[in-house]
Amino acid sequence: MGKQGKERAKARREQRLQEISRLRKLPYASVDRWWSSETVAVVTGANRGIGYEIARQIAVHGLRVILTARDADRGRAAVDGLRGEGLNVEFRQLDVSRPDSVESFTKWIAEKYGGLDILVNNAGVNFNTGADNSVEFAEEVIATNYFGTKRMIKIFISMMRPSISGARILNVSSRLGRVNGRRNRVGDMTLREQLLQDDCLSEELIDDMVANFLCQVKEGTWASNDWPQMYTDYSVSKLAVNLYTRLMARRLADRPEGHKIYINCYCPGWVKTAMTGWAGNTSAEEGADTGVWIALLPCQLLTTGNFFAERREISF
Ligand SMILES: NC(=O)c1ccc[n+]([C@@H]2O[C@H](COP(=O)([O-])OP(=O)(O)OC[C@H]3O[C@@H](n4cnc5c(N)ncnc54)[C@H](OP(=O)(O)O)[C@@H]3O)[C@@H](O)[C@H]2O)c1
Repeated sequence: MGKQGKERAKARREQRLQEISRLRKLPYASVDRWWSSETVAVVTGANRGIGYEIARQIAVHGLRVILTARDADRGRAAVDGLRGEGLNVEFRQLDVSRPDSVESFTKWIAEKYGGLDILVNNAGVNFNTGADNSVEFAEEVIATNYFGTKRMIKIFISMMRPSISGARILNVSSRLGRVNGRRNRVGDMTLREQLLQDDCLSEELIDDMVANFLCQVKEGTWASNDWPQMYTDYSVSKLAVNLYTRLMARRLADRPEGHKIYINCYCPGWVKTAMTGWAGNTSAEEGADTGVWIALLPCQLLTTGNFFAERREISF
């Protein structure tokens, strides 16, 4: 993109952000408020950053939020702050990369609330900033971002409470995980075509792609194999999250009325958080906005298997 093109894109983005800021100030009409103070939303990795903001904004709308964090002290401190603002927020420890932690959280929520209505899979890691592209922590990145998210979805499908408003699962993902990103994509055309076709997409295909990448990392051959060029391990993990979102949307599509589960993913933009080393061009509050908007969509606007950014659908 030339200099003029970049400036036009920047101006369009700024205009869109202004529009969103206006939309955020509009209160929900009472017919669109499908939730109550008994509606339970769980947010993972919510002690800081975008997750904290998603938890806060959902609670501001009057739902009951379970703020989870892998570190109990950090999680409790976050909850204390939100309770100080009068919000209905409760802390529970949850490390999405540890099966025992997920299992004990599942038991707790089943006993206390009989399940949940909204699940926000936000927990994530990325060990690169700036122009770095190390794969030293690739296993941890894939284990947290992809397998952690997948573990949560698999277990929590049976925990989503039946309702006519539909249960909602939202995966916090990234544009870096686009199959066909302009500057950041899988180079293998055959694989890319398979990943784009719903008929070819399977759990095995996604897991094999991820396993193949990790195997090449171990062998030291990943760099010559045409993986996304920016933050490669992170991009592969978010690509897998996006693909899994599409796959699960298809699998969940036939559930009967009253038992529907809607699953989507979104990119919060480039956000000033610890993950980006406080670089980025938007605040955590703005980055959380589209996530909260999707989680609370009025029933007549509900959609599934889609990818969003800045309150709009974008392509995978
Ligand atoms: N910032 C961006 O520009 C950007 C862009 C696109 C997508 N995202 C996505 O947005 C989400 C939030 O990122 P952020 O920018 O807010 O980063 P952040 O400030 O680093 O927050 C990440 C959160 O995830 C938690 N976490 C990490 N591993 C976990 C695990 N195994 N179990 C439970 N929680 C875990 C962290 O806990 P600790 O505090 O204990 O480390 C922290 O609370 C991530 O999924 C990220 O990939 C961010």
